[in-house]
Amino acid sequence: MLTPEDAVLSDELNHASIIDGIRLCKANKYRYKHMDLGDLEAKLKEAQKHRLRLIATDGVFSMDGDIAPLREICGLAKRYNALVFIDECHATGFMGPNGRGTDELLGVMDQVTIVNSTLGKALGGAAGGYTTGPKPLIDLLRQRSRPYLFSNTLPPAVVGSASKALDLLMESNTIAQSMTAKTARFRNKMAAAGFTISGNDHPICPVMLGDAKLAAAMADDMLERGIYVIGFSYPVVPKGKARIRVQISAAHSDEDIDNCVQAFTEVGRKHGVVP
Ligand SMILES: Cc1ncc(COP(=O)(O)O)c(C=O)c1O
Repeated sequence: MLTPEDAVLSDELNHASIIDGIRLCKANKYRYKHMDLGDLEAKLKEAQKHRLRLIATDGVFSMDGDIAPLREICGLAKRYNALVFIDECHATGFMGPNGRGTDELLGVMDQVTIVNSTLGKALGGAAGGYTTGPKPLIDLLRQRSRPYLFSNTLPPAVVGSASKALDLLMESNTIAQSMTAKTARFRNKMAAAGFTISGNDHPICPVMLGDAKLAAAMADDMLERGIYVIGFSYPVVPKGKARIRVQISAAHSDEDIDNCVQAFTEVGRKHGVVP
């Protein structure tokens, strides 16, 4: 899409797949500090000398559950004549009133040019993904996107189930809307129990623990209590910021969520994390 005459501006905490995509791309590369609008603006000014500018950001950052300030990013894009690309893997299907994603939540669906997302998370846990954007761009990608051209197509069963998931979402927003209350229930109860949960009001709820061994040991103890949560540590997250990442699902009942908080509280007490 971009040539050596162009520039891509990327949040420093973007997902590894975006970083690899940018490495494949021949445009000039600018990396701005995580969600730092001042730094993004400085880089946009610097990048005015190039033909096109593309800002690339996760809509929601997968390790922290924080939400990109898309309104402000789109404002800067307008001011400095840039396009906006978002990765919506952690937003498609449940963020925003109709589950259309971070751009719907923040009211900028008409200002984001390109959306990449996955069929492998909220839409059913299968595989594959997609890019949406203006038709001429999609036509170009069909001819020029190497990862798309030089790999096998999706299995029909995956396409069928993802297509059905999209139909269900478009018929009703009940599932998407149920996520807000579930997420708040878990986050509030965990905070009241003494845990630190990072990120915004997103169903990715990272329980911050700091120490890698502690995160792994607590995740093992949670599994013994029938709750499958994963510990993340360096190099997936920065050193000293190990955590257990909990993902709230639309399939969880209030009782499931309460049981999970209860198990965390018992395990946290055992390891001296909470009183
Ligand atoms: C933000 C983000 N982008 C892209 C991907 C890759 O998605 P897929 O596994 O469908 O290629 C992931 C998967 O973890 C992700 O979290």
